[in-house]
Amino acid sequence: MSNQQKQYSGPDRVFSGMQPTGDLHLGNYLGALKKFVDLQHHHECVFCIVDLHAVTVWQDPKILASQTRNIAAAYLAAGVDPAKAIIYPQSAVRGHTELAWYFNCVARIGWLSRMTQFKEKSGKNSEKMSVGLYDYPVLQAADILLFKATHVPVGEDQKQHLELSRDIAQKFNNDFKAPNFFPLPEPLIKGPGARIMSLRDGTKKMSKSEPSDNSRINLTDTADMIAKKIRKAKTDAGAIPDSLEELEGRPEVANLVSIYGAFSGLSDQGVLDKYAGQGFGVFKPALADLAVEILQPITERMNDYLANPDETDKILANGADAANQIAEPILAEVREIMGFWRK
Ligand code: AMP
Ligand code: TRP
Repeated sequence: MSNQQKQYSGPDRVFSGMQPTGDLHLGNYLGALKKFVDLQHHHECVFCIVDLHAVTVWQDPKILASQTRNIAAAYLAAGVDPAKAIIYPQSAVRGHTELAWYFNCVARIGWLSRMTQFKEKSGKNSEKMSVGLYDYPVLQAADILLFKATHVPVGEDQKQHLELSRDIAQKFNNDFKAPNFFPLPEPLIKGPGARIMSLRDGTKKMSKSEPSDNSRINLTDTADMIAKKIRKAKTDAGAIPDSLEELEGRPEVANLVSIYGAFSGLSDQGVLDKYAGQGFGVFKPALADLAVEILQPITERMNDYLANPDETDKILANGADAANQIAEPILAEVREIMGFWRK
């Protein structure tokens, strides 16, 4: 890992989170979850299920806890190992909300008003959105800095939120004359899966909120569903080209090539070298086979965890304890730095 924060002397620590707002899809897996699994072998890792972020838009209280278990099951099934990494639900660690409040008083309204994800999510209805949705990136900064995390594996769409986290950390350190108290967290975005696009429209990112289920591959899809969605994926009449330049203007083809690359470990050019000149009648079944080979074992393990909620709950409770143990001393220091009363 590169380390730009030369003056920060704390340990490297990885933090990331996903919202319990529906099934995870291939974009979540390749953009984030796969990186979690790789990082845990060499770094201290904290992986959160961000249920406090989820409730910035309406969530049915009857299913929120089970959605949280679903994401935990996906983490575990993908290979996050609770013996190596901490896995816990955000709402079980009270420090998130406390630090978010302090950061609300550090972040500037102008900074938040530039956040493009709020604009995308609220559209023309911004006046009717919750205050929480607007404030969402401040809570995200609190998530990361509650653990003094230095590295944050995320997809491309989180880049701006990470920049805001750095701005908040920097302003806190400056305002309270606490140089290098918080690290300036670095996003870990690079990699073949940083931006997986919809299977129906190569200009839109693959997303949980897209109405058409054929636009995405879910981690809960059966082998038949995966094959069918890939068969139906939008392409064009051409063949697989032999150079990257020829992918320009063919976003759906470029997306399938990069998905193949992310699964196989080949570069995009490597995929082209292998399939140049072939039609989609050959490429799509090959991609479907590869997708099924990698995703099916994950789906099966996920179903095992879902059938055993007690085991998942135990892992989450232990994770919450471990997370609290890291967070509490950091919060105590923050209170001290800010000058709050104590006995
Ligand atoms: P979310 O489901 O919004 O909580 O996202 C969880 C993680 O998946 C974040 O790190 C996102 O950046 C990442 N992610 C979501 N959609 C995509 C996508 N289409 N391509 C790559 N990464 C994604
Ligand atoms: N905002 C992220 C998303 O929608 C989820 C998230 C919340 C997160 N807190 C975080 C990601 C902290 C990384 C670090 O995908």
